[in-house]
Amino acid sequence: MLQAQQILHDRYQLIQLLGQVLGRQTWQAVDLHHTPPVPVIVKVMAFAEQSNWEPIKLFEREAKVLQHLQHPHIPHYQDFFSIEDHVFYFVMVQEFIAGTTLKDLLNQGHRFSQEQLDQIATEVLEILIYLHELHPPVFHRDIKPSNLIWGEDQHVYLIDFGAVQDKAATEGVTFTVVGTYGYAPIEQFGGRTVPSSDLYALGATLIHLATGVSPAHLPQKQLCIQFADKTKLSANRVKWLEKLTAPDMARRFSNARDALGSLEMIQESSEYSLTVPQHLRLSQPDTNQSSVNGKNPVIATVVINVIGLGSVVWLVFYPTSFPITPPPIKEGTSSVQELETPLPSPNVSPSPERVHGCRALIYPGSVLFNIHTWSDNPTVVWRYLLQVKTVSGNKWSGTFGDGLPVYGTIDDSQFTMKRDTWNQEWSGTCSDDDITGTMSSPVASPTGKFSFQRTN
Ligand SMILES: Nc1ncnc2c1ncn2[C@@H]1O[C@H](COP(=O)(O)OP(=O)(O)O)[C@@H](O)[C@H]1O
Ligand SMILES: [Mg+2]
Repeated sequence: MLQAQQILHDRYQLIQLLGQVLGRQTWQAVDLHHTPPVPVIVKVMAFAEQSNWEPIKLFEREAKVLQHLQHPHIPHYQDFFSIEDHVFYFVMVQEFIAGTTLKDLLNQGHRFSQEQLDQIATEVLEILIYLHELHPPVFHRDIKPSNLIWGEDQHVYLIDFGAVQDKAATEGVTFTVVGTYGYAPIEQFGGRTVPSSDLYALGATLIHLATGVSPAHLPQKQLCIQFADKTKLSANRVKWLEKLTAPDMARRFSNARDALGSLEMIQESSEYSLTVPQHLRLSQPDTNQSSVNGKNPVIATVVINVIGLGSVVWLVFYPTSFPITPPPIKEGTSSVQELETPLPSPNVSPSPERVHGCRALIYPGSVLFNIHTWSDNPTVVWRYLLQVKTVSGNKWSGTFGDGLPVYGTIDDSQFTMKRDTWNQEWSGTCSDDDITGTMSSPVASPTGKFSFQRTN
């Protein structure tokens, strides 16, 4: 693997690794062709044998799109080349933005004032107006705190065009689903992106900044993020954010211009001057997290929230003929800590009679949590939640974490499950505490082992 101090292409010296996921790395580096050397960002993508082409296509698209963008608050593209260093790498070089990501600011305990939120909203909307009004429009598709930098010049920058889409997806062909759970709107799970998909992600990001709680951890009611009681924002702004994050696209602002116009009207309205002065609202201790955890939200919310533990980035590929469904969630080993996070206890009572085997696990209301390591890639963990709705005789039915139906059979020791999505067939055997077995799908995934554990 590449190392600090290494010089690529006789020009770019790697200084510090800033992030890595699934064969991709982002490095802080310097361009030695300048005196003194100029800081740059170097993103590399390893091209392993049998590599899936999709991430490589996305990487090339990121470079291609960035090359054509010209906005003061988007890093400038500088270079693209390939190198061989045991492995073959594609390398992209872009302008380094001096500043701190909003995610790092959140992690440092920074609480954002209404004025700061207004500035972030305005500046990101201005960037989105630019991107969405290009021909063809450019959709970022992964707006979230770690992809926004609060620059040293006090402006907000949008980075990471690794999920970008620059033309409409063609119906009926394989498409790529990208985004981050908690920030991506529901339509993006189905591979569909519209201008307001980026607006939703901006809204979810602003909610995170305003509450200090990741949107994936906030309760939801009919897919609407419940955040109002955890902020000190004016009522108008809460309504504005609710409209930005409406799960139904028809109820969302339809474009960035409208959203910005509406925010400007709120700022001008008299209510603005009646809000609590900024100095009274800064640096308040964050009590939100504990109140969320203590609340025991309804099952549907638990399912959604548990899946969203942490900021999970997913990236899967499947054909458009499938119904809209969130894909399985894929994580690197870095998720170990998250897996240790206690799960919220669902609001259901376990089966009253003493039962063993599958029936101890599969009864109406039970929720199972699955951690699964694929045999072909031991570093990848997939997580699912399974909620059982009905059991009748040896038949049961329920929903998967994505809300879509699953059904199957149980007896004392055998468990089967079918999921029409991706044509998956699961079968396993039970102990009183878990179900383990294998899953196969002719469509999207290789055969793999699974293990469901009880959460309640
Ligand atoms: N142009 C840039 N200027 C400054 N920092 C950057 C820039 N691009 C990326 N970074 C830093 O590197 C991190 C990872 O880069 P990013 O492009 O978001 O890749 P990915 O999320 O795909 O790993 C960012 O969260 C940010 O901290
Ligand atoms: Mg990123």
